[in-house]
Amino acid sequence: MIPNPLRDPRDRRLPRVPEPCALVVFGITGDLSRKKLLPAVYDLANRGLLPTNFALLGLARRDWGNEDFAELARSAARKAARTPWREEVWERLAGSVRFVQGSFDDDNAFDELAATLAELEGSHGIGGNAAFYLSIPPAMFPVVLKQVQRTGMAESTPDRWRRVVVEKPFGTDLASSRALNELVDSVFSADDVFRIDHYLGKETVQNLMALRFANTLFEPIWNVHHVDSVQITMAEDVGIGGRAQFYEETGAARDVLQNHLLQLLALTAMEEPVEFSAEEIRTEKLKVLRAISLPEDLATSAVRGQYEQGWLAGQRATGYREEDGVDPHSTTETYAAVRLGVETRRWAGVPFYLRAGKRLPRRVTEIALVFKRAPHLPFADTDTEELGNNQLVVRVQPDEGVTLKFGSKVPGSVMEVRDVSMDFLYGEQFTEASPEAYERLLLDVLLGDATLFPRNAEVEASWAVIDPLEEFWAGTRPQPYRAGEWGPRAADEMLAAEGRRWRRP
Ligand code: BG6
Repeated sequence: MIPNPLRDPRDRRLPRVPEPCALVVFGITGDLSRKKLLPAVYDLANRGLLPTNFALLGLARRDWGNEDFAELARSAARKAARTPWREEVWERLAGSVRFVQGSFDDDNAFDELAATLAELEGSHGIGGNAAFYLSIPPAMFPVVLKQVQRTGMAESTPDRWRRVVVEKPFGTDLASSRALNELVDSVFSADDVFRIDHYLGKETVQNLMALRFANTLFEPIWNVHHVDSVQITMAEDVGIGGRAQFYEETGAARDVLQNHLLQLLALTAMEEPVEFSAEEIRTEKLKVLRAISLPEDLATSAVRGQYEQGWLAGQRATGYREEDGVDPHSTTETYAAVRLGVETRRWAGVPFYLRAGKRLPRRVTEIALVFKRAPHLPFADTDTEELGNNQLVVRVQPDEGVTLKFGSKVPGSVMEVRDVSMDFLYGEQFTEASPEAYERLLLDVLLGDATLFPRNAEVEASWAVIDPLEEFWAGTRPQPYRAGEWGPRAADEMLAAEGRRWRRP
């Protein structure tokens, strides 16, 4: 292609379409693949964001042919696609869907996979480029990676790229994540490894950077001089679904605190990157993750909980220990809250309260900056009884947007100041709906843009925060809370002891 001298390569307004390529999914019959990946592939195709020469491959044990696999993919995509269904789009995709039958330790199956990829180069012009998506438990990584390596499929050359996508959890602690990182890095080169934290694919999470670094309004007050505390909440009304086995071994801290919440913290607290590039953004996030401190007394600054039976939206909800597949004496936490510090000039002394839980009253993820009270109020105390701290809330989901909470005079003949809200709602300001996180991230993998993917050093720095917590909690029992409540009482007491309160979003 002749380069256009007038087009700035940093101009990212035009939709980017990846080069011809293949996507190979391991774990294609799993939950993630059916609910997120296959619909995302369809949505990208429907938006014209997949290259014309594209192939989708799956390897699994089932005794299937290409047609059976195409049928599974079609019904999964149809069920969960974000964009309207267009049969002709699917038909075009279906022609380049391939299935290879076999287990992960089956050499023949991987030889066949390599041969199929090579064949697609000729028949579908995929140019030798391929991304391997490991949508499988980490315990299976070694065998799959070795097979991919043995068959020569992992090598990028000047003429073709080969990438690997790794799903969280990246290990279960610092040691296992290091081992996992070493393993992945021994097969693929570091630039070809994409670690998915799907929260980074959410539009509102990316907006955090726009909000901070594209405006002059917020940055001057985004520091210890003005911010009293930061609250990051990831509340879910759902329980553990069909994932008892995974959840029993994982718990809330490893499941979401280690990754989603710490990434949100990093984006909230980081300094402005030198430029909006993968390298620079990851560098700034890493600095924050390394600067995180745990409180000295974990007994009063960290809480883990487990839901008991209760009521949610008028329906009876089972307790965690009564869920199918859960040990009736389980001590796995379904709620975790902790106070962290960020030891930098900007943040030293500002508590970052993080909480995540299942079976809470509603599904909401938000980042709230709670500002200091005005040093002096020239009103009578009674005039400002209902005035809280100013707050800036980035609503990640649902009702994506930003809210500013501040005091305002209540209309009338007396002076009374009360909190009011100013809202920006994505749904009202933009006509275009936000892409799903997986849609965005899958596209970025195929484009080779690693901006929204944590580097392994970030993953390790995050485990370094979680490990001491897990050690402290080992052998203890989580505090009970009723399904439909905002977590255990101890979590409220933790903030109350410091003169603060959790927000009730
Ligand atoms: C996953 C966790 O990473 O995120 C799940 O493993 C959780 O336990 C899910 O339910 C929540 O994702 P979202 O996008 O629905 O907020």
